Amino acid sequence: MIAGSYPNSRPRRLRQNEWTRDMVRENSLTVKDLIWPLFVQEGNNASVDIPSMPNVKRWTIDLIVEQAAKAYELGIPAIAIFPQTPAELKSDEGYEGVNPENLICRTVRAIKSQVPEIGVICDVALDPYTNHGQDGLIKDGYVDNDLTLEALVNQAHVQVSAGCDILAPSDMMDGRVAAIREMLEEKGMPNIHIMSYAAKYASAFFGPFRDAVGSSNSLKGGKETYQMDPANTDEAMREVIMDIDEGADSIIVKPGMPYLDIIERVTKELNFPTFAYQVSGEYSMIQAAAANGWLDLEKSMMESLMAFKRAGASGIWTYFAPEVAKKLNG
Ligand code: PBG
Repeated sequence: MIAGSYPNSRPRRLRQNEWTRDMVRENSLTVKDLIWPLFVQEGNNASVDIPSMPNVKRWTIDLIVEQAAKAYELGIPAIAIFPQTPAELKSDEGYEGVNPENLICRTVRAIKSQVPEIGVICDVALDPYTNHGQDGLIKDGYVDNDLTLEALVNQAHVQVSAGCDILAPSDMMDGRVAAIREMLEEKGMPNIHIMSYAAKYASAFFGPFRDAVGSSNSLKGGKETYQMDPANTDEAMREVIMDIDEGADSIIVKPGMPYLDIIERVTKELNFPTFAYQVSGEYSMIQAAAANGWLDLEKSMMESLMAFKRAGASGIWTYFAPEVAKKLNG
């Protein structure tokens, strides 16, 4: 690194005009960096507001297909879909998650038949389907790792059979990427991309998401026995290296903004495709501050996303995706 000294060097020279700033900008954000998470619910021709996530809705399948078409027209490469499972279909074992006719599988088929060009990402974890809200199966009061793996593999199988392009295991069980990869090889589906939530922290910032999928009320206890301790960095590196070794094609660091250091370290040390997830709580904080007139919504949205590119992220999961895409497209 070379830097001159004042007055020969005046860094402000390069900031004088918009065009000089444009010339020396180190990072850029494009529509192709965006992944848009969407929520789906049962029913027809309905969309429901999520009070803790302003401007985000849950859509019925017919309407989520229109959102997928909108994403495609805006140039967004991929969407991720999360289901709100009706309470009567939830169980201790999360059986609905492995039902090939469940809400998420029907949604994947509808989107893929009507907007085949858009990438579709499915979340692999049992929390939308368990009545205790945990991502895995409980045995003797503890989320049992290996018992859960079998259910996750079956869940992943119904999702890829429905036609999804990317599996995103968000459950943080040990060994799940290997188990899913083995199933994909056995079933003759070697081209399915696994984007694993490799470094996912036990975070308070997931709160609004749990309202959106309807697991806030059912969730008993926290997720600290499988999601990571926010105090740890080296452990994130081990998690990422293990997932790469097990067959992940790309990884996610989650949440995003409070964990920029993790994104930077992973991308600098491992040079592996790394996605940031700007989670529900991060989105809602910006929306809430803007609603109070304390922050400029558009500027803070754009700045928050550029931070991920600066940290080295290949792309960003964000609920702001359509607004950002509109802005970037002019
Ligand atoms: C489910 C899952 C969660 C999120 C994505 N997948 C919640 C959780 O782990 O409790 C959070 C996304 C967000 O907050 O935007 N395993």
